[in-house]
Amino acid sequence: MDRTFIICKPDAVERGLVGEILARFERRSLRITSAELRTIDRATAEQHYGEHVAKPFFEGLVEFITRGPSMLAVIEGPEDTWQVVRTMMGATNPRNAAPGTIRADLGIEFTENLIHGSDSTEAADREIALFFPEMS
Ligand code: RTP
Ligand code: MG
Repeated sequence: MDRTFIICKPDAVERGLVGEILARFERRSLRITSAELRTIDRATAEQHYGEHVAKPFFEGLVEFITRGPSMLAVIEGPEDTWQVVRTMMGATNPRNAAPGTIRADLGIEFTENLIHGSDSTEAADREIALFFPEMS
């Protein structure tokens, strides 16, 4: 089995969309093998989004992702799971996301785009180790 990592971001929790988002993965026959509602602390957020540290949106992104609880989850599928999940998420900016994707169907704001998904197998392993150290 192949696994990836997602975060239903604070906007998804605030808007009561966690069930809707996770249900889409379940309907696709992907499995949720771990999940935890947790407010991400600043140090973890800065590490998780470290690749963006020099970008103008970095501070706003860290403020957003730490402002309240997120639903963290490990998702399992047969193969290429991170790609399947990223395709289902849609483009980073919900205004550009294709209809049928999570970001297009459920949102319109940039930055507050509901969901994070690992963007490679290596990123999935790294992020699972960061957020669920007991699992790696
Ligand atoms: P993510 O890492 O959250 O799965 O999203 P992504 O790969 O689709 O996009 P990425 O380029 O990694 O950006 C990370 C998150 O930063 C916020 N963002 N805001 N306002 C802006 O210009 C801007 N650009 C990026 C979004 O929350 C994006 O998901
Ligand atoms: Mg990213």
